[in-house]
Amino acid sequence: MSDKTAEFKEGLEGIVAASSAVCSIENGVLRYRGIDIHELAQKSNFIETVYLLWYGKLPTQSEWDDLKSQLEANAALPEPVIKAMEAFPKKANFMDVLRTTVSLMAFYDPDEEDNSIEANQRKAIRLTAQLPHLVTAWEHIRNQRSPVHPKKGLGISANFLYMLHGKEPTDLELQCFDQALILHADHEFNASTFAARVTAATLSDMYSAITTAIGTLKGPLHGGANQRVMETLMKIGEIDQVEKFVKEAFEKKERIMGFGHRVYKTGDPRAKELKRMSEKLSKEKGDSKWFEMSVKMDELVQKEKGLLPNVDFYSASSYHMLGIPFEAYTPIFAMSRIAGWTAHVIEQLSNNRLIRPRADYIGLKEASFVPMNQR
Ligand SMILES: CC(C)(COP(=O)(O)OP(=O)(O)OC[C@H]1O[C@@H](n2cnc3c(N)ncnc32)[C@H](O)[C@@H]1OP(=O)(O)O)[C@@H](O)C(=O)NCCC(=O)NCCS
Repeated sequence: MSDKTAEFKEGLEGIVAASSAVCSIENGVLRYRGIDIHELAQKSNFIETVYLLWYGKLPTQSEWDDLKSQLEANAALPEPVIKAMEAFPKKANFMDVLRTTVSLMAFYDPDEEDNSIEANQRKAIRLTAQLPHLVTAWEHIRNQRSPVHPKKGLGISANFLYMLHGKEPTDLELQCFDQALILHADHEFNASTFAARVTAATLSDMYSAITTAIGTLKGPLHGGANQRVMETLMKIGEIDQVEKFVKEAFEKKERIMGFGHRVYKTGDPRAKELKRMSEKLSKEKGDSKWFEMSVKMDELVQKEKGLLPNVDFYSASSYHMLGIPFEAYTPIFAMSRIAGWTAHVIEQLSNNRLIRPRADYIGLKEASFVPMNQR
């Protein structure tokens, strides 16, 4: 009798891997702790959404104030981490830098080996506070500049833009960037969250789980797509070249980044918000070229292949309008998704069982060992 029970599905498509109360996708509707993503995008802010993901409820004013001050108090990076970054090759891949520095930060966290819920909540706060600092620090270091330190009172989103550009964002820039972080903060059992949970389930530590997640997010079939979308738009160059590009890509059976989704078949709800954001920002900046090219590409890809844009498509032109360098797009995804990853690690540990699936073995059934001199 076989000791395998479940049916085999390539890529685990549609397989339920664990129970979770953090985030749901039902009939194309994405919800964090039961609240529709559109409502959060319109009415919430990133710190409030982080609180919701971690603690399962919306914060009161004093709970929100407290989380904001804790995030501020924990944003500093350990000096040896900055020193190590200064020694990295300036051409290092941004996501590799993030993966390596997050792993390195474990050495300086007093709670590293403590897997209690309280210690993991403290680590979640530290990581969420430090990631924007890490991302902007690397942007400056790789360009031979000194990192800008966070400014008191600004909060995560404004501080990120402040540390990146050295000046505070406009109201619209801040509102859009904060909304982008809300939209990326969690997404059920996406590949990086699942990877983080697999690591956590072995009773390893939070830093190992997040390092795993960052490495997984890097791939172009996951978070790495947003950078490639902007690179593609730049390569196409002009709106009258979009049609040729799309036709050729489909003829060559290439994948167009920022389209398609494993779960959403009737459209990614986040893409709708990001499309509006890209339009608003291009109007404010008086530069509609990238938005218009994106809309044209969106229409053609839908017409030719019925594929719809995902979260990565309109975030690319939005980030470009915010003056963010392409290489930082996927790190920004991580900076937001850290909220979801840490919520899932804590949830996994609250009712843990080792995650250990089986393989559909397709190799030789029985083979005999042939000694070296007879091969
Ligand atoms: C996200 C993604 C990996 C989901 O993939 P999936 O559920 O495994 O779907 P499949 O890879 O089985 O694709 C199904 C079909 O759609 C096609 N397809 C899916 N996404 C496509 C894309 N972006 N461009 C061109 N064709 C695509 C596949 O080639 C395949 O066609 P076929 O049946 O003729 O071979 C896939 O849509 C993709 O590669 N998108 C581009 C990368 C991206 O934007 N990633 C970010 C996701 S949020």
